Amino acid sequence: MHELEPIFNPRSIAVIGASRREGSIGHSVTKNLIDGKFPGPIYPINPGSPEILGLKAYPSIGDVPEPVDAAVYCVPADKVLDVARQCAKAGVKGHIVITSGFGEVGNKKDEEELVRIAKASGGRVIGPNIVGTMSNPAKANASFAPVLPYNGQTALISQSGALIIALDTVTYVRKFGVSAMISLGNMADVDFADSIEYYAQDPNTTCIALYIEGVKNGFKFMQAGRWAGKPIVALKAGVSAHGAAAAASHTGSLAGSVKVYQAACNQAHMIWATDLEDMLNKSQALAMQPVLKGGNVVIITNGGGIGVLGSDAAERHGIPLQTAPADVQAQFRKFMPDFGSPKNPVDITGGSGVAGYEGAIETALKCPWVDGVGVFYCETAVTKATDIANAVITKLKESGVKDKPVVCCFVGGAGSVEAGKVLLEASIPYYDCPNKTMSALAALRQAARFSEVGCRVDFEPYADVDKKRAQAIIELARKAGRKALTEPEAKTLFACYGLPVTKSSLATNENEAVRYAQEIGYPVVLKIVSPDILHKSDAGGVRVNLKDAEAVRIGFRTIMENAKRYKADADIHGILVCEMAPLGSEVIVGSVNDATFGPTVMFGLGGVFVEVMKDVTFRVAPISIDCAMAMQQEIKGYPMLQGVRGEKRRDQEALAAVLSRLSQLVSDLDDDIAETDANPILVYEEGKGCRVVDARVILKRR
Ligand code: ACO
Repeated sequence: MHELEPIFNPRSIAVIGASRREGSIGHSVTKNLIDGKFPGPIYPINPGSPEILGLKAYPSIGDVPEPVDAAVYCVPADKVLDVARQCAKAGVKGHIVITSGFGEVGNKKDEEELVRIAKASGGRVIGPNIVGTMSNPAKANASFAPVLPYNGQTALISQSGALIIALDTVTYVRKFGVSAMISLGNMADVDFADSIEYYAQDPNTTCIALYIEGVKNGFKFMQAGRWAGKPIVALKAGVSAHGAAAAASHTGSLAGSVKVYQAACNQAHMIWATDLEDMLNKSQALAMQPVLKGGNVVIITNGGGIGVLGSDAAERHGIPLQTAPADVQAQFRKFMPDFGSPKNPVDITGGSGVAGYEGAIETALKCPWVDGVGVFYCETAVTKATDIANAVITKLKESGVKDKPVVCCFVGGAGSVEAGKVLLEASIPYYDCPNKTMSALAALRQAARFSEVGCRVDFEPYADVDKKRAQAIIELARKAGRKALTEPEAKTLFACYGLPVTKSSLATNENEAVRYAQEIGYPVVLKIVSPDILHKSDAGGVRVNLKDAEAVRIGFRTIMENAKRYKADADIHGILVCEMAPLGSEVIVGSVNDATFGPTVMFGLGGVFVEVMKDVTFRVAPISIDCAMAMQQEIKGYPMLQGVRGEKRRDQEALAAVLSRLSQLVSDLDDDIAETDANPILVYEEGKGCRVVDARVILKRR
């Protein structure tokens, strides 16, 4: 038996604090269990009454003669620990703690004690501060939400109890089928990962929908998502970039939590929802239909307009429509007048009735070229919306096709809404606009892609790295009381992990500078090295394109003078003599150490792309070369790397290696590194590699 079975699928339930007062939470929970027809025994616990709502009540859980799976806590916070001890003693394994007044108001101590008591006796805690749990298959409404939700196959897991209450009755209005509705509250013990793990193996659940405010353990969360093997839709609330502005590095300032969450959810094979509506729409399709195995979607429509809107939406959501091959067009042609179009969208035209839809649907379902079908309909006087809905249901049933998704878009009034209900009752997703429909189909495509990858994480650590030396560099800086590495230290650290940094040597006087310049080869760049001067150019601390010894001497002196003027007491380590890398495409690579997901790498094009357009993408580290290639492809500026205006393709493979190697560096040194920037990196044509021109590493506070 799964450890969480007593919470999510209990066979017997005690309500602790099953109040006599109508309208109180304890009373409502007891009533909900009765009204929901919970088949197992319900034990109201109340020291002041021998009977509650017609059920025999017990003064304490210890007085119940049989073993009890779950206890729903409806007593005030100051009584919870005593109750927990009694429950633990009585062998209760599922502690469903509705009571508020714990971590959410700073009372962490009692919250931890509650979990400790439950776990010591082999139990688990959900909550505290929750609405409760609802399971349709178990007929268990262990909550104070109005009713058991509309029955179906989505497990809805929400950190917010209010959202559970709000959506509960919405499920009936929308015919949004739910297997379970779970309020997680403070997540003192049972969290998203635990719930995902449970519902991944639950035969009554085909899709898991998450409403997330914050994840406590990012690694566990991502692991659970990858292993689930079931579609998961994630809606993250609170997506502002609050706090990012205070970040010390360039990458840090670009890492709004939403971008990191989005990356993490994607890596965890979760489908991102933009809002509540989007979460419901996508979950509905994922719960009801098979995944979209290929990219060939056909839209069958009686209206050109909604067909075109569907086509636009398909492209927007990453599943662009393809023109049907000639033989497929010929088959569709049979079911439309001359002025129809079989190309895709398949426009059977406004005068078409049931027969036209039936023919086109049957053709699409049978045709091997078609991977998925969108049936679009605008309400007309010549057809009844429910007749079209029934045609979809009948044809799908008759075809026996089980591996192609079918979704419907009915645009119209009451007739279409009615038809939508008919469709939903037959497990065919219905939407009232083309955008929602194609977004749902795109979610089915994404789910297919995730299932192709499975739970594989293909990052292979690089063996040719020098972790010990990297740690020694950090230790040295720490001993000197510094929070950041100097540029030469940062570059050496990067080089320890095989990043192609430009050649450089630290000179403490003019003669040394000239000698290093000769060794490196002209032209060179000089840069001030001082922990007190982070923005070198602002301090006049950089001279570029120095072509001979004389220029180096002048440059050295000027920089020293500028630095002293900028900050008289600056601790100057010297001047870095650097190879002047030839011009190339400028990109930025960096990392932040996210509070939830840990080391996370970023990629973007340099200059205005990053400064103005914030055209950057993130991944939780470590990442494989394939993942690093995908990062490059997903930024808007990707065509620049493919070569524009006659330029050759840039060395994307070399750049991917930089990203992947940096991801290992920041993972290996997770305890020490807060942020890094390799900015800029100059990327050359294919086969010619790239060069990290500047490096910054900010250390974590100890
Ligand atoms: N064992 C069993 N029953 C007990 C015990 C005990 N040790 N001690 C008291 N009781 C009984 C009481 O006698 C009472 O029954 P009665 O009304 O028949 O006398 C019953 O338990 C309830 O006790 P009250 O003191 O009346 O508690 P009340 O119902 O006012 O509040 C509650 C309890 C609901 C748990 C409250 O403390 C609380 O936390 N409320 C917030 C819940 C919440 O909002 N959760 C988050 C949801 S998410 C969202 O925000 C939507």
